[in-house]
Amino acid sequence: MMKEMLEKIGKQAQEEIAALVKSSGDLKAEFEQVRVKYLGKKGELTGVLRQMGKLTPEERPVIGELANEVRADIEKKLADAKAKIEDLKLQQQLKNEVLDVTMPGKDFSAGSLHPLTQVLNEVKDIFIGLGFEVAAGPEVELDYYNFEALNIPKDHPARDTQDTFYVSENVLLRTQTSPVQIRVMEQKKPPIRIIAPGRVYRSDAVDATHSPVFHQIEGLVVDRGVTMADLKGTLETVAKQLYGEDARIRFRPHHFPFTEPSAEVDVSCFACGGKGCRLCKGEGWIEILGAGMVHPQVLRNCDIDPEEYSGFAFGMGLERIVMRRFDIQDIRMFFENDMRFLKQF
Ligand code: DAH
Repeated sequence: MMKEMLEKIGKQAQEEIAALVKSSGDLKAEFEQVRVKYLGKKGELTGVLRQMGKLTPEERPVIGELANEVRADIEKKLADAKAKIEDLKLQQQLKNEVLDVTMPGKDFSAGSLHPLTQVLNEVKDIFIGLGFEVAAGPEVELDYYNFEALNIPKDHPARDTQDTFYVSENVLLRTQTSPVQIRVMEQKKPPIRIIAPGRVYRSDAVDATHSPVFHQIEGLVVDRGVTMADLKGTLETVAKQLYGEDARIRFRPHHFPFTEPSAEVDVSCFACGGKGCRLCKGEGWIEILGAGMVHPQVLRNCDIDPEEYSGFAFGMGLERIVMRRFDIQDIRMFFENDMRFLKQF
């Protein structure tokens, strides 16, 4: 009687364990359920063994041995099942996480620097190579720095040409990078060798060559014995690095309130070499910047003695240089951020 029960339990357990491995449910939970059902304290096998007391002394060792065999068999089958379940899990995981190294990669397009930034970086590198430092000043500026200290008093006609955006009576959007000259000279004494690139603002009507925001690069050198020859030598060196060894420059007399003497500086046309072409409008020369010797009054305004020190300054418009470099016809392109335009650089 007991012998049959044990054999039945053994057989039943074997079937359940075999079914378990094929199940699609939570194998871990199902496995535990089967284990408890047969081997647990209240399990079927334990239940049968509790009745061993009712057996005769002759039957007891025989049934005992059989019970041990059944238990060992269930334990072994469970262990095998467990190994199989874990193996299945691993196979599944390997299948899910398979990485096909022969698949083509996802193409993502790298961005590029804005053409203004590219050329500005070039210009910066050239001046840094000559021993200049890069300085900066605020775009929202005081009237004093943008005009007054640069020798442009309130009634000066030069103010008319600057189409200033005023924030209040004495606060404005800087119309030029020249105020950085004053801020630098207030902060440190000569020798001074800086460039100051940055945005400037003018309330011009927008068209292909005018934008209410554009960029200038200011330059300032102040030391003992600085002359116009230093200005010419510096600008010539820069022009050759920017436009090639054949580039030449020429000075035309001009007027700026903050320099004396003042000049407009042209570079020989890099497209035709000076013969005259569409780019230089037949001139052979292209105007690139304004420059001059720092006005003694400007030095005095910054507590620098013009008897002891002299300096030169220059200011160039970045957009015009970049437009000619890449043959860009419309200044508005720089500020519209149209990817079809920007991707070309
Ligand atoms: N600030 C001038 C402008 O916006 C450009 C300029 C001319 C700057 C001569 C200078 C200079 O430093 O010396 O038109």
